Amino acid sequence: DWTMAAYKDEAIRQIREQVGDKQVICGLSGGVDSSVAAVLIHEAIGDQLTCVFVDHGLLRLNEAEEVVGMFRDHYNIPLIHADESDLFLGELEGVSDPEEKRKTIGRLFIDVFQKYAGEIEGAEFLAQGTLYPDVIESVSFSGGPSVTIKSHHNVGGLPEKMGLKLVEPLRELFKDEVRALGHELGLPASFIGRHPFPGPGLAIRCPGEITRDKLEILRKADAVYIDQIRKHGLYDDIWQAFVAILPVRTVGVMGDGRTYDYACALRAVTSVDGMTADYYPFSHDFLGETATRIINEVKGINRVTYDVTSKPPGTIEWE
Ligand code: XMP
Repeated sequence: DWTMAAYKDEAIRQIREQVGDKQVICGLSGGVDSSVAAVLIHEAIGDQLTCVFVDHGLLRLNEAEEVVGMFRDHYNIPLIHADESDLFLGELEGVSDPEEKRKTIGRLFIDVFQKYAGEIEGAEFLAQGTLYPDVIESVSFSGGPSVTIKSHHNVGGLPEKMGLKLVEPLRELFKDEVRALGHELGLPASFIGRHPFPGPGLAIRCPGEITRDKLEILRKADAVYIDQIRKHGLYDDIWQAFVAILPVRTVGVMGDGRTYDYACALRAVTSVDGMTADYYPFSHDFLGETATRIINEVKGINRVTYDVTSKPPGTIEWE
């Protein structure tokens, strides 16, 4: 695609001009956006870039290993693997308000970055994979008064005290364009095609209080659900799919016994840019089979529901 090739060259030129001979640190979440940003910046300035992958304890099953493996082994990009899960989960203890969760996570990210940036000689820039929809959704709706729907933890709010300037080479792009750019940069198709994953991670898929127990159940259920979607060849037809664990336990029966376990909700949507979305029309067979698998394979869940809300009025994530 020549247009994306031209965009890439121009973006590389701009990154070099902005950064000069200074060091950049890039927050890597494992999602497509921050990965494309990192590879683009690496192409522009090589080892002046260090990536920091913050494991906030809110990642999906095996996600940390996969991301670190890909960046270290495949790309040879300098990478710090920061396991800060105790910090994040500790601070989130007892927090159930969605905005308070997002703000807590956002604040800790900044603290953690500051810590690692301080260890990198000459670091003056922080790179982020902020996209155009992130920019506008977190600012306002046009016409009306400024309303923040959700505080995106990766936009704005970067305190002056951090003393780092922002590099956001994807700020003008939509998701499909980021994928095209990723393709242009030679990222593996399997990686580019991954569903979006939000910075606050599983925190916003666990309404109410977050506990390690619930996270573990959620990870397992999500892995089964995604496996089902892949096995049925539906992954690429869906913009985003995930499980949310509900803050409610319900009564069930298994064999001769009564169960009292968590309910979960499956979510799957189609979308072009994440700004609006429709729920995905799975067949009843698919839903039934998936519910059976989750209940049989995941201890702690005894009820599965399917979320049929579109956006608007719903949002894609539950918080
Ligand atoms: P919502 O739930 O607002 O999500 O309809 C729209 C898209 O954005 C993702 N999302 C986020 N991504 N930081 C991110 O990097 C965030 O704080 C955040 N919140 C939501 C969400 O997964 C969906 O793709």
